[in-house]
Amino acid sequence: LTASPPLTPFVVPLTLPPVIDISTGVPITLGTYKISQSVHPDLPNTTFYAYGTSQETATYPGPTLEAKQNVVSFVRFENHITDPEHIFVVDRTLHHANPPNGGVPIITHLHGGDAESKYDGHPDAWYTAAGDTGPKFVTRDNVYPNEQPASLLWYHDHTVGMTRLNVAAGLAGLYIIRSESEDPPFLPSGEFEIPLVIQDRQFFPNGSINFPDIGLPPFAHPQWCPDYTGDVILVNGKAWPYLDVQQRVYRLRILNGANSRFFTLFFSDSRLQFLQIGTDGGYLWTPILLSNITIAPAYRVDVLVDFRAVPIGSSFFLNNSHADTILTNTTTPTTNYVMKFNVVRSSGRKSAQQNVVVPSSFGPVPNISGWASTATLYRNVSLVATLPPVFNLSFLLNNAHWTDAPTETPQLYTIEIWDITHLIPNGVHPIHIHLVNFLVMHTQAFNYTRLNASECSLQLPYPDAGSCFTQAPQPPNPSEIGWKDTIIVNHGTVVRLLVPFFPRSGQLYSFDPTTFPGYVWHCHILDHEDNDMMRPLAIQPPPH
Ligand code: C2O
Ligand code: CU
Repeated sequence: LTASPPLTPFVVPLTLPPVIDISTGVPITLGTYKISQSVHPDLPNTTFYAYGTSQETATYPGPTLEAKQNVVSFVRFENHITDPEHIFVVDRTLHHANPPNGGVPIITHLHGGDAESKYDGHPDAWYTAAGDTGPKFVTRDNVYPNEQPASLLWYHDHTVGMTRLNVAAGLAGLYIIRSESEDPPFLPSGEFEIPLVIQDRQFFPNGSINFPDIGLPPFAHPQWCPDYTGDVILVNGKAWPYLDVQQRVYRLRILNGANSRFFTLFFSDSRLQFLQIGTDGGYLWTPILLSNITIAPAYRVDVLVDFRAVPIGSSFFLNNSHADTILTNTTTPTTNYVMKFNVVRSSGRKSAQQNVVVPSSFGPVPNISGWASTATLYRNVSLVATLPPVFNLSFLLNNAHWTDAPTETPQLYTIEIWDITHLIPNGVHPIHIHLVNFLVMHTQAFNYTRLNASECSLQLPYPDAGSCFTQAPQPPNPSEIGWKDTIIVNHGTVVRLLVPFFPRSGQLYSFDPTTFPGYVWHCHILDHEDNDMMRPLAIQPPPH
């Protein structure tokens, strides 16, 4: 892709998406609209697809929906995008939504949501403004029970074969579940709690998003590229913004909303660190102080940053040290920084002492080995690639395609152990399971070359002469301790997960396959998800 026009960083103030309270019992309607919005003063306005309560109020990212634990929310999604064609090119060689009357299909998934499958945004449940619907469409009116822990979720498009296009076009927003019993009373709140949706995009000089429409030869998908990354970092829809902060503790609720870019975040000054208090699934049992945090697409981290450690008048950068793509290990200089914080004097109006108390524990440490001993099923699921010249490049789970019959069929109210085995010579894939959260038990590296040559096996324990493992099982990364719904799987490793299939709202579940679409699990690199790295998750009725 040609580089975006140069944009001076740190000149646009950070903006926050509008907030909609969805805990009132009153149904809300969010439409998708085509809008024009500025990411930077030096760039003409950009066309986005965006969520909002009306054409006039639609924003990229979409409004932040605030829910309360155990208070049901009713959210209707409507499609008001009347373009005859998508603003990006649809690759028709992929499994993709193909509405008979054209238009832009959408279906919204609540990522981290715990609801009946007809409200889960199944990839085949898409619909267009003209009224065409996909084969698994059930309803536009969603019921979210919000029975899971206090946490940061997000909603985004999930249309089959077009998720990467719809999300890149802007269809994503945050969803916060708050809980009176779980939210500690003295965490930074109000103006001191800042959501940050981090994404990357490439732009044309006319302001429109540059999304590749030529597949990489010799891959025969004519328009599909394996990993979309851009050279402009957007935070809440602004290019490299700045935020004026006071000498106080801030709570940053960070989402990696990128299509495929990973970020390793760190501050330009070592006096500023992250006290991580939460992850995808809610609060950690023990807060952990980190100088850097790696976030894959769909990761959420909840961190406290203490600006009392630095003087008024000073400025700091939130930087990124992660390589651009999982394959090339290169970096683009412009993506090494994310945003800037200026520590300013308080306006005086709110100069009262900030009473921040961070609990030393947010709850009991889960009994992972105890739960593991009650697991009723062990699954080995593999990540593989089909490679040219024999096949078009695609990524597969268990060597199966999206349209193959379900093989992951966990029973409700059982615990499973999943070994996710990365059998591709290179690359990293963030694997996401819908409906439930899981815990990382361990990760373990193996020798791919020897395994591929059948010189050893993954069945034998390490150490053993016949074992392909090259190390003992390793504990999860510090920032991946906690309930997760998406997990990084590096090449040459096995990641072992404890997956309790205990959704909170299980009593609502119906298992009639003719009317209920079911769930999915997939790679959250959206380009991979769209090219077959997604499989059904066919939850079965509980054992009798
Ligand atoms: Cu965030 Cu199935 O997706
Ligand atoms: Cu992937």
